[in-house]
Amino acid sequence: MFTGRAWRVVRFGEPGQAAELQELTWDEPSPGQVLVRVRAAGAGFPDLMMVSGHFPLLGAPPFGLGEEAAGEVVAAPAGSRFRVGDRVTGITDFLTRWGGYADFAYLREESTIRIPEGMTDEQAAGFPIGFRTAYAGLVERVPIEPGQHLLVLGAAGSAGAAAVQLGKALGARVIAVAGSAEKTEFALRHGADHALNHRTEDLTARIAELTGGHGIDVIYDPVGGQTAATAMESLARNGRILLIGLASGTPAPLDATDMLMRNYTALGVLAIPNDDAETEAAIWERLATLAAKGEITTSVGTVYDFDDVPHMIAQQGAPNAGKSVVSVTA
Ligand SMILES: NC(=O)c1ccc[n+]([C@@H]2O[C@H](COP(=O)([O-])OP(=O)(O)OC[C@H]3O[C@@H](n4cnc5c(N)ncnc54)[C@H](OP(=O)(O)O)[C@@H]3O)[C@@H](O)[C@H]2O)c1
Repeated sequence: MFTGRAWRVVRFGEPGQAAELQELTWDEPSPGQVLVRVRAAGAGFPDLMMVSGHFPLLGAPPFGLGEEAAGEVVAAPAGSRFRVGDRVTGITDFLTRWGGYADFAYLREESTIRIPEGMTDEQAAGFPIGFRTAYAGLVERVPIEPGQHLLVLGAAGSAGAAAVQLGKALGARVIAVAGSAEKTEFALRHGADHALNHRTEDLTARIAELTGGHGIDVIYDPVGGQTAATAMESLARNGRILLIGLASGTPAPLDATDMLMRNYTALGVLAIPNDDAETEAAIWERLATLAAKGEITTSVGTVYDFDDVPHMIAQQGAPNAGKSVVSVTA
C-alpha cells in the first residue's frame, strides 16, 4: 500500500472551490494497470471541463484529476510488460476516478510506454494524450498522405501542437492557426511550415495563397466555433475535417447541404484505446519510436508547481502557448 497526496474534484465549480488536495492510499495495481511514483503530469483544457461538470465521460464528484502522468513504476502485476523502476509515461486510470496530479498514479498498461532516451519528465508527461489523439485522427481515422495540406486549429494548444508535429512526421504540409503572434511563432518553432493568426489575418485568402488555390485536404479541429466555420470554407474537394474538440465552447458548425455540394467529410475522433491490446501497444511503440528518433516531441509550455493545480486549471480558459505540465516531484 502507498500513501500520498492527490488533487481531487469534490464538487463542480470554480477550480479553487472544486479541487481539493487530499491524503490517499493506493493498493497494488490490478491486471492491466501499473502504479507509478509521479514525477510530472500533463494538463490541459479537459481539466477545466472536469471541474465545471462539462466533461462527458465522468459523472458526479469525487474523482481524481490528471489524464496523463510520467514517473517510475513502483508496482506492477504478475505478467506485466513493465518492471519496478522502469521510467514510464502513460494515460492514467482517470475514467475510474484515479488521476495523475498525485504522488502516485495508476497508468493503463496498454497506453503506457518506457520514456525514450533524452525525453525530459515534463516532455514525457505531456506526450500521451496529445500524440495518441493526433494518431487517432491523422492515422486511424483519415489517414493523411505525404504532401497533403493539413490545417491545424488551436495549433499552439496541447492537442494542436501534437498534430502539427505528427503531421510533419507523416509528410504533410502543415499550416498552423493560432490566436496571437506569440502562438504563431511558437507553432513555427515547433515544426509548422506556415502559421496564421486567426485574429488578424484573412484565413481564407492566406490559405488560398499558401496552397496555390488547392485548399486544405485535412483540418484538425480541437477548437470548433467560428474558427472552424471559417476554416471549412477552405476545404479542398474530397477534403476532411477531424472533429477533435470544442475549446471555443461550441463544436464545428456542420452544414449537411454544404458538405454535399462541396464533397467534404467530417469525422469524429475520440482517442480511446483499440479493443485489441496488442494493436494498441503497437500504436504506442510506433509513437515512442518516432519520439526516440526526434521526429515528434512534446511542445512544453508552462510548468506549474504541484500546489498551483487550481490556478493552472483556471488558466486553461485563456491558455498560454504550449502544453501545460504539473511538476509533482520538483
Ligand atoms: N477527441 C479527443 O480524444 C480529445 C483528446 C484531447 C483533447 N480533446 C479536446 O480538444 C480540445 C482542446 O484541448 P487542448 O488540451 O488542446 O486545449 P488547449 O491546450 O487549451 O488548446 C485549445 C486552444 O483552443 C483555442 N481556444 C479558442 N477559444 C478558446 C476558449 N474559449 N478557451 C480556451 N481555448 C480556446 C486556443 O487557441 P488560440 O488562443 O490560438 O485561439 C487554445 O490554444 C478540448 O475540447 C478537449 O476536450 C479531445
